[in-house]
Amino acid sequence: MVYLKAQTIHMHSITNRRLFIIAISLITVITTKAQKDLPGDYLSKEFHRSRREAARKLMPDNSVMFVFAAPTRTFSNDINYFYHQNPDLFYFTGYKEPNSVLLIFKEDQPALDGSQFNELFFIQKRNALAEQWTGRRLGVEGVKEKLGFTHVYNNDAFKEFPLDLSKFKTVIFGSLPEGLTDETNEKADLYDLVAQFRQKIQLPDNYSNSLYKDLGIFYGRASMPNMDRTINAFKTKMASTPVYKDNELVNAIVNIKDEKDLDRVKQQIADARNNTFLFDQITGALREIKTPEELSLIRKAVEISCLGQNEVMKTVRPDMSELEIQGLHEYIHKRYGAEEVGYGSIIGAGENGCILHYMENTKTRVGNDLLLMDVGAEYHGYSADVTRTVPVDGKFSPEEKAIYTLVYDAQEAAFKLLKDGAKWADASVAAKDVIANGLVKLGIIKNKEEVSKYYPHGLSHHIGLDVHDKGISQTLKKGMVITIEPGIYIPSDSPCDKKWWGISVRIEDDALIKENGYELLSSFAPRSIEGIEKMIAENSVLDNYKTPALKSAAKKSF
Ligand code: GLY
Ligand code: MN
Ligand code: MN
Repeated sequence: MVYLKAQTIHMHSITNRRLFIIAISLITVITTKAQKDLPGDYLSKEFHRSRREAARKLMPDNSVMFVFAAPTRTFSNDINYFYHQNPDLFYFTGYKEPNSVLLIFKEDQPALDGSQFNELFFIQKRNALAEQWTGRRLGVEGVKEKLGFTHVYNNDAFKEFPLDLSKFKTVIFGSLPEGLTDETNEKADLYDLVAQFRQKIQLPDNYSNSLYKDLGIFYGRASMPNMDRTINAFKTKMASTPVYKDNELVNAIVNIKDEKDLDRVKQQIADARNNTFLFDQITGALREIKTPEELSLIRKAVEISCLGQNEVMKTVRPDMSELEIQGLHEYIHKRYGAEEVGYGSIIGAGENGCILHYMENTKTRVGNDLLLMDVGAEYHGYSADVTRTVPVDGKFSPEEKAIYTLVYDAQEAAFKLLKDGAKWADASVAAKDVIANGLVKLGIIKNKEEVSKYYPHGLSHHIGLDVHDKGISQTLKKGMVITIEPGIYIPSDSPCDKKWWGISVRIEDDALIKENGYELLSSFAPRSIEGIEKMIAENSVLDNYKTPALKSAAKKSF
């Protein structure tokens, strides 16, 4: 099926008038058939409106914030990857279509007709032929009715919309979408919207996402004791990249001598007219705390992921492939209504578990080794992140048990420190300490400083609309949902006793931070050695599920 070709044939072979009639009737058919048998638990328009209100409260006086849709991306030839909305735009609108931009204003703005607005939404135009091929569009009326906006326009109205941006003290926006192409069949696609935006705010031609990102990280994290390292990093970039060298803020940063200078530069960054730093601060501050509506979706995503883990534990056999196991997890997810996975499923048998983000899943027989399964369902946009590591033959060997116990104890040490007001970094230190001491005791490392060789990643991150979700706080707060995921990975040829080679263990759970502790949202899947061995011994509804052998499977390899 070739979308563009088919559309071209239609365009050539029928008159405009007939095309219009066909378009209108197609839209009617598509719209009237759209509403049946959908899930009943999508985020409400009141939720999205409340998020825009909350952002408005955090915005400075006389400011406007722009939020762009995510770009579409080509998978192959004229086929796109499944479209995934920019989580910030989804958070503020619930809109799942591309080629759109939202404007949130701090203060009410006068419209030409005498009314007032404090947000504008430019969205993808309805197009019957495109909808027949690539899916329904809400259109202006749909966005008004379903998402609760009042000032909604087709995206081609953005260019000429009467709005004087020069009067705003601060224009807030996130990293601009990159690598865009001007799609010929859409007059105001994201490429055009971004170009028009750049022109409207007179963004310098040498504007650089990565420079603004670096300044944002500086704004959020720079502190005096580490200033030398930060200054050196900026100096290195100045030497190789003209846009850094010419930037006033970067020049101010490399001349920081004391706390006063640092505060002054931070203030300059916060006061910048074209301001991406405030975007990250505002969206990070909001998204790191989950509302009750979000929590109910996250709970579902996590529970579904655990049910996937449990079913696989019950049915896994050495002759299964990594791909088949991936399929079983994702089948369970979809059975419970999770549309997507929040990241590529990681099914690593034996040594493959040592590759932290292993997603090929090509091993045709998982065998009797440990099997590391890091799989997270995405339910209505919210992602879980759950890892279980299990012995395929049903029993942990003494070596596997020793490593697993260390990772388990590290997790326990971190859990004990989780509560509102705790320093997040303390949990990481506690977990790392358990692993470091344990590896020394087992003779795998000689001193604690070598721990990163076998535990090379961080302990924890937020989950939400992104599996590695946004946040700005160093302190844990009630309503955050974070992972706790220590791991030990010992590839073959590591400088330790051979008996440890090929063992990799990660245990990853999702915790809701509460006033005096936490709730383990992923407690539906066992994580103790006894719990896992017991689960593996159970029967599964997927046992004895036989499919015929492939007739074309004779050739083993090329
Ligand atoms: N699944 C990716 C991670 O654990 O962060
Ligand atoms: Mn994770
Ligand atoms: Mn994970």
